[in-house]
Amino acid sequence: MKKLALIGLAVLLLFFGAYPFLRNTQLGSCVAYAFGSFREVAQERSERFLGKVHEDTARCRGGEQAVAWRLTPWVDWQRYWATGAEESRSTSLISKLGFLSPNRRGVAGALLDMEYQRIELLRFNLFDNSGTFEEYVRGRNGTAGSAIKIWPQLRLPRGHSAYVAVGGDGSQQCRGELIRFRNLTGICNDITNPLMGSTGQPFARNVPLDATFPDLGKNDIVINRHGDRLGLLQPDPQVISRKLFSRAKAPNNYCNDAHGLPGYVPEANCDYQKAPVLNVLAAFWIQFMTHDWFSHLEEGHNQSELMAMGCSTQDVNTGQTPLSAKAVQQLRCRPADRVDKSYIAADKPPVTFTHEGNQYLTRAHKTTLNRVTAWWDASQIYGYNDLSGTRVKRDPNDPAKLLLEPVITRAQEVMGYLPLLQPSDYTNPQWSGQESLAFPDNWNIGLSFFHNVFAREHNIFVDAFRQQAAAFPEDDSGLRNPTNPTAVISYKDVAPDELFEVARLVVAAEIAKIHTIEWTPQLLYNEPAYLGMNANWSGLVSKHPLVENALEKVLARLAKSSSGNKAAAWYSVFATGPGIVGLGNNKPDVNGGVNHFGSPFNFPEEFVTVYRLHSMIPDLFEFRELRNDPNVIRYKIPVVETLQAKATQAVHRYGLTDWALSMGRQRLGKLTLQNHPLFLQSLSMPRLKSATGKIDVPALDIIRDRERGVPRFNEFRRQYGLKQLTSFDDFIDPTLSKNSPERVRQRQIVGLLREVYGQHKCEDSKIITTAQLNDDGSKINDCLGHPNGSLVDNIEDVDVVVGMLAEFARPHGFAISETQFQVFILNASRRLFSDRFFTSSFRPEFYTKLGVRWVNENGPDGKVMEKGKPNGHEIEVSPLKRVLLRTIPELKT
Ligand code: HEM
Repeated sequence: MKKLALIGLAVLLLFFGAYPFLRNTQLGSCVAYAFGSFREVAQERSERFLGKVHEDTARCRGGEQAVAWRLTPWVDWQRYWATGAEESRSTSLISKLGFLSPNRRGVAGALLDMEYQRIELLRFNLFDNSGTFEEYVRGRNGTAGSAIKIWPQLRLPRGHSAYVAVGGDGSQQCRGELIRFRNLTGICNDITNPLMGSTGQPFARNVPLDATFPDLGKNDIVINRHGDRLGLLQPDPQVISRKLFSRAKAPNNYCNDAHGLPGYVPEANCDYQKAPVLNVLAAFWIQFMTHDWFSHLEEGHNQSELMAMGCSTQDVNTGQTPLSAKAVQQLRCRPADRVDKSYIAADKPPVTFTHEGNQYLTRAHKTTLNRVTAWWDASQIYGYNDLSGTRVKRDPNDPAKLLLEPVITRAQEVMGYLPLLQPSDYTNPQWSGQESLAFPDNWNIGLSFFHNVFAREHNIFVDAFRQQAAAFPEDDSGLRNPTNPTAVISYKDVAPDELFEVARLVVAAEIAKIHTIEWTPQLLYNEPAYLGMNANWSGLVSKHPLVENALEKVLARLAKSSSGNKAAAWYSVFATGPGIVGLGNNKPDVNGGVNHFGSPFNFPEEFVTVYRLHSMIPDLFEFRELRNDPNVIRYKIPVVETLQAKATQAVHRYGLTDWALSMGRQRLGKLTLQNHPLFLQSLSMPRLKSATGKIDVPALDIIRDRERGVPRFNEFRRQYGLKQLTSFDDFIDPTLSKNSPERVRQRQIVGLLREVYGQHKCEDSKIITTAQLNDDGSKINDCLGHPNGSLVDNIEDVDVVVGMLAEFARPHGFAISETQFQVFILNASRRLFSDRFFTSSFRPEFYTKLGVRWVNENGPDGKVMEKGKPNGHEIEVSPLKRVLLRTIPELKT
């Protein structure tokens, strides 16, 4: 109907010969757009979308401001109608005309662009490191690589305790007890690939394997791109930290090097740039999440060998001269800092192979292992190997519950707290005095908060289940045992161990839901992201015609696409329709809803990089008391004095209620340059026994990425299908007025980038990438469009963490940069797509009927709606709010 109307309009315009005059108007552009400006889904890496649309498309979706934005490196959709603040909405007469409204075109266009990106990311950015990559490229027995579903590399090895149970030497398939619940080490989530996502599997990559480890200078392209300018400590990470990460602070601001004032009086102040819409709880939420998804460290350790951390050289222009003692003093960096080297799993030269004339590596130059399960299985709470499992204490009076003990806090709370670790529970002395749970590293108030909250939630679910069992003991619980799948298990027959595992499934799914539909849309606070993330979880097609409209168009394109294997892309679009969660849960095959897109699931190293969000943390907590006027800040408590065991003490002393209030009312640090917490630049690390006993964590963020071979920022963007930058000036937000203070600040930072990373005389004969081509089809060279021989910025050398924080131009409401978002689009979907317990095994046979309802309805009392339309939509009371009201009932007031 809509298309017909547009076609009718177009025919009329053409008939009356008006089109040439309307060509550059919105109407003319929309006509041209409707008649064929839709792009094909790219078949080749060099044809990728890059988030940039045709001129007509931009004009139709966002008017002249969107057309102008096409000249920037940043994705176009952020300038479409209605994708930003109120001012981004068209108020013209036509905006009242339903489907003709520019606002609808804008939002639908943004969703369409994001879906194109996701399809391309799934097609071009999956690179496994566990030995399956050659088949991904070549295919297997006539099956395209991207359609392969079972890999021999993911069989359980001989000697594994479950080796015989899954079939030993024969074809392996998990069955029986192994497939009922989430297993401690993450095996058997995928029934036919037992090892996938389990503890100790290699991190994957999202960039071609030969594009990793640019510092090694393994090929001409890399050498052309970076010369000899890169090294583990080059440019110097501590110099980067001090010049580009240190928080700017006014003189006499009573920060006292992040230690605040005696008595924690509220007059203390450590300046930081605050994010507009996110609170401190959101910062610690994401750390709590990352501890579930990935860790490079084992028991908080790396290798025993220590290495230097910089504070030794500066100024690339003159070839890295040593820092003078005076410069060291001015920068306040520490040459004697040492840190333990990363664990490396494989570093021998990788085997290569040739396919259709191209040479490939079978894995990255070096690999590292994920020391926790990659699944979203709440392993930070429940464990990921034997030792971490012993830290999970069950209640001896009811083994279905986690052990919680009474603590007398100032807030006089009714619910208990996690017990303390015993010396036999850990190998890292720094953890002594903390709460007992699976992942205790980098312990702080925020982590303690969420661990206690979800331990309480676990027990509340168990209580609700027991009440149900008491009221209806003979009723079918929904649970089944795969060894006898037709036998009904009534409520009274669910054993405590089974109930414990069901509660774990429920808690993990609640956490995933909170993250997907609550945390993420708040981090990306705009209309398209809100719709997109909700579509991921529960599907919105039926409720949101805009999404439906956008997806119809992608599907139409795919149907015309000549690609041999469209399965992956079809699946991506299809899943956005009904939602990923519960996909295939109405079919008999409990493993049938997952899709790994031909590449076994694990997080890539690049994913870890974009979660380096340390600038979110303030230096001082603004502490408030619920019973004593919550609007008044009573204390400023230094974060550095609430780490490790002191976190546990502070949580016990003040209570979860006041910490919820305080962290919920304080804004977190903006993700931008010059905004890292001071205390993290001098974090005490006694276990390292170095001369200073300290490390600069922001500097370490850079060192670790270099150790793990993450490409530098510009190539990283190219590889992820985003436009490159051609100088440091490109970072400056083009929407800022000429002399605005923010523009002045950004210009100063650009100056510092030039000082730290330097410039060089470019040579246009040097080709620097194979990831993309210039707009005219020529190869991208060292001059990036500047005249041959001119002095150009070393933009290619910028570390990803620096680059992503320097992205001052962002889509409206985005706390993160578009580069980070691009990494999330791919991996956030994949961790749902690949997990049987979120797709085909999200059903009562595993979760029980109560469990499924609890996840779908955010608790035991049915759906609860917010009053009015808090974000322009009728929304349910968000799942975290429901959890907080259950687990900290004192917050009700
Ligand atoms: C008081 C708070 C925090 C402390 C003391 C802390 C400390 C650290 C330290 C020492 C490391 C380096 C480990 C190593 O490679 O040797 C690290 C890594 C990391 N941190 Fe934090 N951190 C804190 C909060 C956060 C927050 C809020 C986030 C947000 C997501 C975060 C994300 C990360 C990530 C992604 C890594 C890399 C982990 C890996 O390599 O597997 N951290 N942190």
